[in-house]
Amino acid sequence: MPHTVLILEPAAAFEAADGASLLEAAQDAGVVMQSSCRNGTCRTCMRKLASGTVKYRIPWPGLTLDERGDGWVLPCVAEPTSDVVLAEAAQKAWWDG
Ligand code: FES
Repeated sequence: MPHTVLILEPAAAFEAADGASLLEAAQDAGVVMQSSCRNGTCRTCMRKLASGTVKYRIPWPGLTLDERGDGWVLPCVAEPTSDVVLAEAAQKAWWDG
């Protein structure tokens, strides 16, 4: 079942198909999110999950337990398991200045 993904900054909304990571779903919708490794290690894509739930494709995504507890996610390896809202990125995108 697809889930709705809402990004607050920059504002965007799109659907994530079953099995799609948040990053893949954004790219399929033409929404640019910063990324690099796409395998959960570099943390370039790190964003705050404002609401909703995700599951990870890999057992140890590159987040500390504190970061996970504070709601940070890695969209390149996180698949939504509900409708989700993504808030700010951990790193400012180079194209944002
Ligand atoms: S792009 Fe490297 S952790 Fe997501």
